[in-house]
Amino acid sequence: MMRGFVLGIVALSVFSTEACKTNGKVQSSMKTTVFGKLPDGREVHQYTLSNGAGMTAQIINYGATITSLTVPDRNGKVADVVLGYDTIDGYVNGTAYLGAIVGRYGNRIGKGQFQLDGKQYQLAVNDGENHLHGGKTGFNKVLWEAILPDSSSQSSVQLRYVSRDGEEGYPGTVTLKVTYTLTDKNELRVDYEGTADRPTILNPTQHSYFNLSGAFGNTILDHLLMIDADSITPVDKGLIPTGQVASVEKTPMDFRTPMAIGAHIDDQDEQLAFGRGYDHNWVLKGAPGQVRKVAELYDAASGRMMSVLTDQPGLQFYSGNFLDGTVIGKNGIAYQHRTALCLETQAFPDTPNKPQFPSVTLRPGQTYRQTTIYQFSTR
Ligand code: GLA
Repeated sequence: MMRGFVLGIVALSVFSTEACKTNGKVQSSMKTTVFGKLPDGREVHQYTLSNGAGMTAQIINYGATITSLTVPDRNGKVADVVLGYDTIDGYVNGTAYLGAIVGRYGNRIGKGQFQLDGKQYQLAVNDGENHLHGGKTGFNKVLWEAILPDSSSQSSVQLRYVSRDGEEGYPGTVTLKVTYTLTDKNELRVDYEGTADRPTILNPTQHSYFNLSGAFGNTILDHLLMIDADSITPVDKGLIPTGQVASVEKTPMDFRTPMAIGAHIDDQDEQLAFGRGYDHNWVLKGAPGQVRKVAELYDAASGRMMSVLTDQPGLQFYSGNFLDGTVIGKNGIAYQHRTALCLETQAFPDTPNKPQFPSVTLRPGQTYRQTTIYQFSTR
């Protein structure tokens, strides 16, 4: 239970919980530090979750962003497997959504337009003529409130953001809570809970970029990926779904058995051409609303394996096609083309204009929920 209290009232040291020892075994912990200051002077805090089993996750309350995730390889050697920046300025100025929670709507809404209950809405347009990842100032560009766990040995933190009525064109006030928990089974669990005071749409997701080798000079082209999906939602050249559902059979989109990401990424294929690689939504098997394993990512060199479990209907697999060496990340490393990939668990892109897709409407009295788990192991 996260009864906790809102950060910012008491001195920071109060919030630091040391890793406690039980029977000589190091247990989980959560520690708060100052990450930096926003241009307007507000402090950004970083929460370091440790599970006592070799993993740590660092999260900042700007964008509810994962800034680092350290994971052991098959020899127990720990490395950070996500892209990020060294300083807050990187996150404030960045345009690649590194590690952030994106929303209200993860991915695209055609022309930023939709109708709800017969009313027409125009959202901010920030990706050509379309709306992407919540607009110009999405959930990734705002300071969230942190609510800390009441037990010192809990490696979790909850972040809360109240998005006002009309923000980026969306109707209604939305309150979204995202809870990050690092379990002793080497899982990073992300639980979302959202409510609204007027009918609106909500479809947030986590935008971490993974490279399981932990060496960001490498691309992810030799990672093996499995996606438990028989079909995708094909897109037009603006990456807006056509509304169809297309089988992956005999296409480069067939990840039903593990396949190297680089195996077909440069094939002559209209969908790959539109995405400049993989940047598509897979229609996940199994019942939405039930947490099930939907994807597996494996790096043979390090032995690191990541399973993705979610209750969402879709998975946007983005192969880092827009990375082009201009983003300078942690430790001064320039992030080159396809040095990392995103596996964004969510409802399908452009759902508000596609009544045949699973709904993203949120009404007063209802609660939006999502659970997504990134589970790490080695082989
Ligand atoms: C998502 C989109 C991509 C791109 C990235 C961010 O994955 O589908 O097209 O916008 O986010 O660069």
